[in-house]
Amino acid sequence: MSNDPHGHHHDHDHDHDHDGHHGHDHHAPPQPDDKVHSYYQILGIALKELLIEKGVVTADEVRAAMEARDSITPANGAKVVARAWADPGFHERLIADANTAIRELGFQTATTQLVALQNTPDVHNVVVCTLCSCYPRDLLGLPPSWYKSRAYRARIVREPRAVLEEFGLEVPASQEVRVHDSTADLRYLVVPQRPPGTEAMDEEALAALVTRDAMIGVAVARPPNP
Ligand code: CO
Repeated sequence: MSNDPHGHHHDHDHDHDHDGHHGHDHHAPPQPDDKVHSYYQILGIALKELLIEKGVVTADEVRAAMEARDSITPANGAKVVARAWADPGFHERLIADANTAIRELGFQTATTQLVALQNTPDVHNVVVCTLCSCYPRDLLGLPPSWYKSRAYRARIVREPRAVLEEFGLEVPASQEVRVHDSTADLRYLVVPQRPPGTEAMDEEALAALVTRDAMIGVAVARPPNP
């Protein structure tokens, strides 16, 4: 929908999930952006109205596209990681060509290249988009608000270990931290290490251990609570 060279700047101001609180709390003061549209919101609305007016798309098609996008959740990515943990052949295919491998589970990426990064005892991977908010939306849905923040984008590159500690993740000194900068054409999925004590678990149970944050690399997958 966007002719923007970076592909998705309109998204920045279209996310109405204020830190994950859905719905309206009528005791709270209204948020400023409930009243005032930003430049990109106005641009988005104008573009949508024009496309509908010119018969390029219908309002129902726009609605359906938004519904489809909102139906993508981190559970999709968790299924991919769980399959990789459970099936060494799939793991190999995922690392070699993630776009093709995820089709085996019925998932698809649009035009962007997806790269799966395997965490190991020696390397911990973490993902950022320093420029804006590029994210594997085709697989994980919309990025969390902190991912888009200026602070995360700047600091994770400069002082990754300090930022990860703020997320509650202390990466051992023996493990190298690699920060991967996403672009409009290239998105990353972190494959966390499979937690110990999960040998007997099936894929569905394994997938429940894979969080969104673990697939961004600001957390690790934890074994189930005993
Ligand atoms: Co970006």
